[in-house]
Amino acid sequence: MADENLQSNKVAVLTIPGHDPIELPILKGTEGPEVIDVRALGSHGYFTYDPGFVSTASCKSKITFIDGAKGILLHRGYPIDQLATQTDYLQVCYLLLNGDLPNQEQYDSFSKRVKYHTMVHEQINSLFKAFRRDSHPMAIMCGIAGALSAFYHDNLDIYDPEHRYLTAIRLIAKIPTLAAMSYKYSVGQPFIFPKNNLSYAGNFLHMMFATPCEEYQVNPVIEKALDRIFILHADHEQNASTSSVRLAGSSGANPYACIAAGLASLWGPAHGGANEACLRMLERIGTVERIPEFIAKAKDKNDSFRLMGFGHRVYKNYDPRARVMEQTCHEVLNELNIKNHPIFDVAVELERIARSDDYFIERNLYPNVDFYSGIILNAIGIPTNMFTVIFALARTVGWISHWIEMNEAEDSRIGRPRQIYVGTPTRDVIAMANRKPCDTPNNEF
Ligand code: SDX
Repeated sequence: MADENLQSNKVAVLTIPGHDPIELPILKGTEGPEVIDVRALGSHGYFTYDPGFVSTASCKSKITFIDGAKGILLHRGYPIDQLATQTDYLQVCYLLLNGDLPNQEQYDSFSKRVKYHTMVHEQINSLFKAFRRDSHPMAIMCGIAGALSAFYHDNLDIYDPEHRYLTAIRLIAKIPTLAAMSYKYSVGQPFIFPKNNLSYAGNFLHMMFATPCEEYQVNPVIEKALDRIFILHADHEQNASTSSVRLAGSSGANPYACIAAGLASLWGPAHGGANEACLRMLERIGTVERIPEFIAKAKDKNDSFRLMGFGHRVYKNYDPRARVMEQTCHEVLNELNIKNHPIFDVAVELERIARSDDYFIERNLYPNVDFYSGIILNAIGIPTNMFTVIFALARTVGWISHWIEMNEAEDSRIGRPRQIYVGTPTRDVIAMANRKPCDTPNNEF
């Protein structure tokens, strides 16, 4: 959508003492709030300050829309709860990449193309051996994903639409294989080849839990739950990891290296690392009786503890993904006949208490996508240190869809934020012999 279609015919007038009023166009997208276009400020010698980009749009996008106040999440216009219950992950991958859901013929062709690329180059197997067995799987994924750029840099022209699309297919296909390999490596078991007669989620479960000694039977309820978890994590607008992929890609960097940037950002506990941190928090709380102690810690400004799986930069209402996740959690625990799951009971009671507490109500802190996902993954038998890898596996299609959209954008340019300089004003170098000791805390290290 070119900028002329975004004009709302309204302008904001900025009055700066000693300056003529500055007129700034107000833009309006298909959905969402009006936006003040501040690009002209530079020509007046000003720029804006917005740490964490709380009030800043970095780009235009057609892929995902979030209304945080109403708890709305759309992918190419389709509500997330409908996608999660009426489609599968590969349909959502097609949707994010192509703009609409596939018909049966398109779905079959897309699935076949993805399955053709599920294997990885044999030399990647030896890359794993460079890692300690007890490496965190996300550390391995960051390294291996970046290393993929060494396998595809020569025949990859990022300005060729077909090369960009092939990159997306390769990543969607290979990321489950690499994720399962990072798990197998950490438990000292042999890597399991993909089986292309299985579904996307079924194949991942197979590569995770099969061994050469016996067949692995995919449980259809678990397969469907995992596919739904993939859908719920597929994309989420300009979150920290997607913005990292876009910023890295804005310099024309290799797309596999850009995905490695996304993986690195996602790993943080404030972002995709929250599902692992949330389950560890629930295990640390341990019993319903200890919840008040941790609620108090979360509210204590002098305590860095936060309720993991709670709160969101955009959602000031219930994260729509968390609702679907909670329903899926019940289904999986029932299917696996897991009664009185201690962590689940703590989670349900923690949510009830938190959501009735003024501190959380006043700050619009609700459960987010990470609050229940860890319980499902735990029940499926996926180890806690693999939770963020599962998130990364699912989010890869969102990352590469945004990378493609950025490369196709007519106004795409290298991302280069500005700053407010608060350092030492200009000064001259003093000869070493005349210098006083440098006053720095680093001398104690
Ligand atoms: C994801 O952006 C995305 O879309 C991300 C994501 C995606 O799909 O890509 O949705 C995935 O990252 C979900 C979020 C997962 N993270 C967590 O669950 C970690 C716990 N949550 C927080 O760290 C926090 O809520 C953030 C990071 C998610 C959001 O932080 P903000 O928007 O910067 O909010 P803030 O830190 O300014 O907090 C506002 C207030 C503060 O209190 P006051 O200073 O106003 O008194 O709320 C408090 C915070 O202390 N607060 C919390 C809290 N989250 C915010 N207090 C206790 N527990 C929490 N979890």
